[in-house]
Amino acid sequence: MRRVIIDTDPGTDDALALLMALNCPDLHIEGITTVGGNATLAHTTRNALRLVEYVAGGRDVLVAAGADRPAQGSFSFAYHVHGTDGLGVDLPSTARKLHRADAVELIRDRALAAPGSVTVIALGPLTNVAAALDGRPDVAQAISEIVVMGGAVEVPGNVTPHAEFNIYEDPWSADAVFSSGVSVTLIGLDVTHRTFMRRDAGPQWFEGDSRSARLGNRILANSFRERADVQEFYLHDPLAVAAAIEPDILACRLAQVSVVTDGEQRGHTVVSYGDGPVRVALEVNVRRAVEVVRTLISD
Ligand code: BDR
Ligand code: CA
Repeated sequence: MRRVIIDTDPGTDDALALLMALNCPDLHIEGITTVGGNATLAHTTRNALRLVEYVAGGRDVLVAAGADRPAQGSFSFAYHVHGTDGLGVDLPSTARKLHRADAVELIRDRALAAPGSVTVIALGPLTNVAAALDGRPDVAQAISEIVVMGGAVEVPGNVTPHAEFNIYEDPWSADAVFSSGVSVTLIGLDVTHRTFMRRDAGPQWFEGDSRSARLGNRILANSFRERADVQEFYLHDPLAVAAAIEPDILACRLAQVSVVTDGEQRGHTVVSYGDGPVRVALEVNVRRAVEVVRTLISD
């Protein structure tokens, strides 16, 4: 069983990624930490709590809230992509409580409790993860790996021609994480833009009548309904979870990575291949990746 902390800003594709992780027998979720990004921190936290309750009601899954804004500078949300309240579909309200500690404390605690065995899967701006590492070499040492959905290395960005959303939102934190010395797998648009579900494959993108299959289908149906011109739903964050479960679905090159923090190229991931702590994903086994996503949500 791989121990994971999922740092996330749900978000439609984050929600699918959480469904996968909650359904996966090979992952033990040490905690879910929320960050502002696709939507406000209040919305991403509420969405995470409701989603956990809806699909894993009886289970004790820690959910902790983190940063509501990047380490520095301006920021914006992506409601135009993810819909009302950041998810586009309603989930029943829940009395499920947040963890007493915040996201930074949860990441540090869980990593230090099992040194060398906790993977952080980061699906939003890297603000919480960078803060957990800041001034704490013991925490950096204890984290086994950080799997990041973010960046556009050899391909254009999706927020600007130079930058992908998660990195653009908090380039300072991204740069700090990539230079922290912790092993990082960087899963950017190079591979996530090849990994998608098509509008015309619905409305049963996920099979069966489980809560997760029904919720997954509702999320995709609503997303396609609200964006009439869009034919593909990109599996950005689900691919990160799939790769944490089956690393071989990616082909990666080692690199040093830094991030442009200001100006027209803000959020650009600058890659120097060779030795380095970052595995940059450049190829993906699309068929297998989509199969992993579908299987875990269809259950
Ligand atoms: C990333 O940005 C967010 O909108 C998605 O949830 C994903 O994490 C894709 O650029
Ligand atoms: Ca996300």
